[in-house]
Amino acid sequence: MNLKQYKSVTAFAPASVANVGCGFDIMGFAIEGIGDRVTVSLQEEGMNSEVTLSGPFGKIIPSARKKNTAGVAVDAFLNATGNHNIHLGISLEKNMPLGSGMGSSASSSAAAVFAANYLLGNKLTTKELIPFAMEGERIACGSAHADNVAPALLGGFVLIRSYSPLDIVQVKCPADLFAVVVHPHIELHTSDARRILKKEITVTEAIKQSANTAGFMVALLSEDFDLLKRSMHDLIAEPRRTQLIPGFEEIRSSAYKSGAIGSGISGSGPSVFALCRGEKTTREVATIIGHIFSRNGLNNESFVSKLNSPGAYIISAEK
Ligand code: HSE
Repeated sequence: MNLKQYKSVTAFAPASVANVGCGFDIMGFAIEGIGDRVTVSLQEEGMNSEVTLSGPFGKIIPSARKKNTAGVAVDAFLNATGNHNIHLGISLEKNMPLGSGMGSSASSSAAAVFAANYLLGNKLTTKELIPFAMEGERIACGSAHADNVAPALLGGFVLIRSYSPLDIVQVKCPADLFAVVVHPHIELHTSDARRILKKEITVTEAIKQSANTAGFMVALLSEDFDLLKRSMHDLIAEPRRTQLIPGFEEIRSSAYKSGAIGSGISGSGPSVFALCRGEKTTREVATIIGHIFSRNGLNNESFVSKLNSPGAYIISAEK
């Protein structure tokens, strides 16, 4: 494929659930049905470099390129690939609410780098785009974590085995494993939800956490739903963050009683997620969680998705 074959490319990247309980900063999966769209276009030097914003949440994010996750991610990609002299205009259709715990900033930066790479000849693999999308996360919340951008780019369930060097592992999930994510209409910034975390954990806690994480991985690969249930406990983030989410303890116990395998905080919250076997149970659990948020005075919406769901893709490309 020739460089500059396309003038303009539009890509979509989905929402995602990070942490997934026992995998703080190292596990995440994509959610189908919601995400942001980004169009990148070749432009002349000196043209307006601000990000053009649209969509339901376009008015509340910065258009300045250095403050916008899509802008930062595209520029990190251009610099690292030696394309400093190429000028790309960026239009972001912001469909995802901010501070939702559903990987909103990651969706923008993942779609942006995916589109930019395609426009410039698809030279990098999707996995190789992850570090540039992570730069978008750094600007959004001060931490370049990969547990939203990796699933937003690759789709499905992803393990970040190491950050330095980056080692990303895609994990196949049972076909009948579903998730529901319920978003209560309050905003919680990841930077705030990270600030309240403990700075250190004990060896006992580390043992329990790594045992649960290992159990979780084995459970996915061996389709052992009972082991999955036993493994879904987090000792790092959730103990501190549950206080930020109205009704969380009731949500967890009701989801479990209604047939969920387990539930937890989606990313840094305030959204919560539950894993269930089969779509019917997942929809029932979604209704129950929604009612609990409503009783706590919070409007909410839910998204049901398979765990094996697609990552970023190209919507259109113009020559
Ligand atoms: N792992 C990150 C956190 C995800 O929990 O802070 C943020 O969406």
